[in-house]
Amino acid sequence: MNAHMESSAFLLRAEAVDKSFPGVHALNKVDFDLKEGEVHVLLGENGAGKSTLMKIVSGTYPKDEGKIFINDQEVDLTSPHHARNLGIGMVYQELSLIQSLSVAENIFLGSFPKRSIGTIYWSKLYKEAHKLLDDFSVAIDPHQRISTLGMAERQLVEITKALSMNVKILLLDEPTSALSDEERSRLFDIINQLQKRGVGIVYVSHRLDEVPQIGKRVSVLRDGKKIGTLPVEEADEKTLIRMMVGRELKEHFPKEEVPLGQEILRIEGLTVKNKLNRLNLILHEGEILGIAGLMGAGRTELARVLFGIDEIDSGNIFINDRQAKISSPWEAIELGLGYLTENRTDGLVPRLSVTANIILASLKRLCTMGFLRRYKEKDFSEKYIRELNIHTAGLNQKLELLSGGNQQKVALVKWLCSHSKIMIFDEPTRGIDVGSKIEVFRLMNQLVKKGVGIIMISSELPEVMAMADRILVMCRGSLSAEFQRGEATQEDILRCAVIGGE
Ligand SMILES: Nc1ncnc2c1ncn2[C@@H]1O[C@H](COP(=O)(O)OP(=O)(O)OP(=O)(O)O)[C@@H](O)[C@H]1O
Ligand SMILES: [Mg+2]
Repeated sequence: MNAHMESSAFLLRAEAVDKSFPGVHALNKVDFDLKEGEVHVLLGENGAGKSTLMKIVSGTYPKDEGKIFINDQEVDLTSPHHARNLGIGMVYQELSLIQSLSVAENIFLGSFPKRSIGTIYWSKLYKEAHKLLDDFSVAIDPHQRISTLGMAERQLVEITKALSMNVKILLLDEPTSALSDEERSRLFDIINQLQKRGVGIVYVSHRLDEVPQIGKRVSVLRDGKKIGTLPVEEADEKTLIRMMVGRELKEHFPKEEVPLGQEILRIEGLTVKNKLNRLNLILHEGEILGIAGLMGAGRTELARVLFGIDEIDSGNIFINDRQAKISSPWEAIELGLGYLTENRTDGLVPRLSVTANIILASLKRLCTMGFLRRYKEKDFSEKYIRELNIHTAGLNQKLELLSGGNQQKVALVKWLCSHSKIMIFDEPTRGIDVGSKIEVFRLMNQLVKKGVGIIMISSELPEVMAMADRILVMCRGSLSAEFQRGEATQEDILRCAVIGGE
């Protein structure tokens, strides 16, 4: 028998793990194992139970039933601290950072370096944090507060924190959902190094192209049940999708051509110091305008300015040919704009119910003489929950209890209900499973057929290329190119995004 077949090679084994929440059987007798030095990818639709399994293994949630073995010893994990002492670290999908603390404080939370007299050794804290970030080529000042960082930076800090713990088992729950390709390949390098040291890694993702890049084996969950485990060589995309969704998916991008109407938005010479440089663009009724670019190119800044969050230094915005001054999100909503932010929690209230979150942007329209028409809100919510296959125990479930991808769908539905005429979607499919993505694109089709104009910001080039009627490429705050649908290859777009316009 070869060494890998021996049971002692299992760092982690979960046997018939079962977990229920009120109204949801999140894990149904799930078996899972992890060998030394392997990356085991865990896939499944939104709400399939991936994060729940990871949280049980990291001691965050107690299991209801089943057994967990670490190095063949049965353990009863009582807390994340306990799991950490056993060599288990986790990068949380919704990130576990404390906003008001600095980067360094977050990295060492719970294990601050101390002086011999017991006080915190601050200079060492910052020095070591700096070194860790440096090892990972992350250019973030360890003194900065988390609240001042963008999504990608936060994700990098969260990863650095887990890496600092010197773990034997590393659980990564959608670690790359906000990262650029470059940062992602840096993470993959680190994962390779860890593997060589014998660390076992569980890797959760919705990006199927990542599976052959880093995985050794892949397991799929569906509705809380384990569907199967395969070596990656046998796990082509089609097979994985069938395992995840339970059927074949025909068309990944159901683009419908819609005749364009009048111009609804025009931007002339839009400038924000150091961020946007004399930007011009036109959006028509029924048009999907894709905006491509690298991180930091100014795409999110453009969205923030249009939505009245950040101020412009010069330039003009015209809506339906009338000059508009947008100085707050409320004014933007009044003028018919909707904005799905790159960070889903920015636009949602976690403690409120699913329904309350959905109608947040439509309150005015749903009120008659100051009274909310309750039956309408229920109709809305139910329709979209069905269409987008949102897994929730009910309309009154608190938003924070939904899985990450299902929260993203709620964020989307909120704007679908708002009847906005100009929609800005910033990374609309982030964290959304492969089947639901198609539904999101269908909903975009429905919107444009009603004459809505959509600005679609996305780092997923195949998505923009398939769905957008026109693509603008941004580079360092300026527009560097414009392509009609089908006119440019991925390489053309990337070139313009990296080196700017000709
Ligand atoms: N603390 C909780 N209370 C109630 N229900 C929960 C809780 N955590 C998860 N759930 C429910 O359990 C199910 C599984 O959720 P989980 O977060 O594990 O899904 P997931 O596979 O990680 O999905 P995603 O791809 O969207 O991240 C979902 O229906 C979710 O709403
Ligand atoms: Mg999850």
